[in-house]
Amino acid sequence: MMRLSLRFIVPLALALGAIAYSVAPLVDELTLKWFVRDLDIRAKLVASAAQEPLAELLTDKLRDKVRLQRVQAFFNRMLQDERLFALGFCDDAGALLYKTQALPGAVTCRAPGVPAEESGTVLKLPGGPLHVAASPVMVDSERLGELLIVHDMSFIERRSADTKKYIVYLFAALGAVIALITVVIAELSFRGWIAGIKALIHGQSLALSPEPKARELRPIARDLDALVRDLETERRMRDEAQISWTPEALRSILREDLKGDEVLIVSNREPYVHVRRSDRIETQRPASGLVTALEPVMRACSGTWIAHGSGSADRDTVDTNDRIRVPPEKPAYQIRRVWLSNEEEAGYYYGFANEGLWPLCHIAHTRPVFRASDWEHYQAVNRRFAQAVEQESRTEDPIVLVQDYHFALLPRLIRDRLPRATIIAFWHIPWPNPEAFGVCPWRNQILDGLLGSSILGFHTQIHCNNFFDTVDRYLEARVDRETYTISYGGEPTEVHRYPISIEWPPAALARQRPVAECRERIRRELGLAPETRLGIGVDRLDYTKGILERFAAVERLLEIEPRWIGHFAFVQIAAPSRSRIEEYQSLDARVRAAAQRINARFGTPVCQPIVLRMEHHDADQVYAHYRAADVCFVSSLHDGMNLVAKEFIAARDDERGVLILSQFTGASRELVEALIVNPYDTEECAAALRLALAMPPDEQRDRMRRMRSLVQEFNVYRWAGRMLLDAARVRQRRRLAGATRRAAQVVDLRRV
Ligand code: G6P
Repeated sequence: MMRLSLRFIVPLALALGAIAYSVAPLVDELTLKWFVRDLDIRAKLVASAAQEPLAELLTDKLRDKVRLQRVQAFFNRMLQDERLFALGFCDDAGALLYKTQALPGAVTCRAPGVPAEESGTVLKLPGGPLHVAASPVMVDSERLGELLIVHDMSFIERRSADTKKYIVYLFAALGAVIALITVVIAELSFRGWIAGIKALIHGQSLALSPEPKARELRPIARDLDALVRDLETERRMRDEAQISWTPEALRSILREDLKGDEVLIVSNREPYVHVRRSDRIETQRPASGLVTALEPVMRACSGTWIAHGSGSADRDTVDTNDRIRVPPEKPAYQIRRVWLSNEEEAGYYYGFANEGLWPLCHIAHTRPVFRASDWEHYQAVNRRFAQAVEQESRTEDPIVLVQDYHFALLPRLIRDRLPRATIIAFWHIPWPNPEAFGVCPWRNQILDGLLGSSILGFHTQIHCNNFFDTVDRYLEARVDRETYTISYGGEPTEVHRYPISIEWPPAALARQRPVAECRERIRRELGLAPETRLGIGVDRLDYTKGILERFAAVERLLEIEPRWIGHFAFVQIAAPSRSRIEEYQSLDARVRAAAQRINARFGTPVCQPIVLRMEHHDADQVYAHYRAADVCFVSSLHDGMNLVAKEFIAARDDERGVLILSQFTGASRELVEALIVNPYDTEECAAALRLALAMPPDEQRDRMRRMRSLVQEFNVYRWAGRMLLDAARVRQRRRLAGATRRAAQVVDLRRV
């Protein structure tokens, strides 16, 4: 800045100095004229003052010598005026009779007949310029001669030289000030430009953000901004319109848009659990919507899935680096297992994640429990996973997909270790409103942790909005709802809606027998008559799933429509879950008791209305039940998405069966052809069951067809694909920003 300023200021000051120098003679000439006029007036004054005494001296009867002495003395007295240089007296005949010593020879008397000058003349002599004026000396209208009054003009020269000097200084100073102001303004504008361009590349709205300070940049910024957004919308629309979202489509995004960049997934639950069964090791697929969705994505992407090794035989199946390649039948990616002690698992998983955050985020009226010791473990385990991510990443800028509420702190911790990573955090459960979230004692740390991500995803717009509101309420962050971006410290976080889904077609479907066979087989297994109508519910045994509310609806149906007694059975598959937690133990007991009570009330020797299967079922068994059922009932009290609803639809390639779906699931936003109910409203749920059991096949087909085509189109490859495309866009922007930064550094270096 200093150099630039000097380079600019010095020439400008010199130029202005030169101008001043050439302007000075004009000023000189002008001031000389003024001074000559002043001296004319002064000479007249002097003459009029001398008139009388001089006339007396000239006319007194004196001897010539005495007269000479007296006139001389008079002239000398007059010369005490320091401006007067010399005096002289010429008679009418043009002879110089009296003069003071200093009168130069060049000053002569006017020859007789030569007309008198109106004003004085300037004589330029080597000793300096003189002003010479002649004034008549009269006595009673008789002309005695002329008084020559010579003024010294050297003071004018001195003044003019000073003026010249001051004018040059003034112009030079003026030039310097103008140049300085210009440089400062130019510098500020330049910085504004750079900031503006940077902001654009970072994906912030130039026009709307207060960042671009340079006023002149704003219209261009607005245009550029609009252009970038248009291109993005167009691109996104084109991607969304791409109908066949398949594993191959996902692979091509990884290949082309992400140039084969590394993908890592982190979740608490692993996709394959190894458990010891007496003398053999069994591989299990856990009951988890998250795993159901992500496993096919990982098969398509390869890469590494980092998760808690929770199975009893997990340690026996990994290599020396705690890794295992899966799926067992056709390995496509690897799991890196992270080991936790019992205390860590109790504090981090059972405690903070499932007794704290889970009830905090679900409106199911179960009070969250926050213990400081759990929080300590939660932090420590998040740190441990951050370390594992660093160990597993082969590059400095992997794409890391962080899953769910077990890892709220992980995005920030990864960002600290791998600043160039693209971190996509996905929150699989609902995000509550700010009041509800505000009860968490460590709410700010959780928000800060999540805002370490480049992209943060939720299933629905409501959850995104709740998140914006929460950040707005508790953090000093810039929340831009136009661009769905939160700026908090470093890299901005984009917050978007990505509704999760299932693979299409589901792998388990390919292994299924025709629907008629499934119907027959399942009924046979359950000891039910072939014509018995069947309802199905598939859940983890969790208080958010509304299992008791579902049973209440079945009970009410049998009350209001007794013709179903003995002809309708509801099978509830409930995979045991988080059973060390008291709330889950009590739910287990209440569910069993409710089933018993209803069965005691409405059971017949051939048909129990509630068939409770409180054990883990693999995907093949679950799909067989879906295909055997007439109705699937999803009655969650609150659910981020709920993939059971989508699985049931996918399982029904016969286009039959009715889905009853809680309005409090994310899925109800998409599957609008389901019978949407409020699970708290037992009457409404019973009416829906009644309607479902009586629904004509055509209507079942119409509804099922629409829902199937929607799930087919909005499958899990699309969910992952959209996130990966957004990741590619973020990475591209960052690369561009890097290039701009480097360019800016070059400019800075040149300035230093
Ligand atoms: C929900 C959560 C998942 C979790 C699953 C099963 O779907 O969003 O993160 O894996 O429940 O729960 P669990 O505690 O058994 O992993």
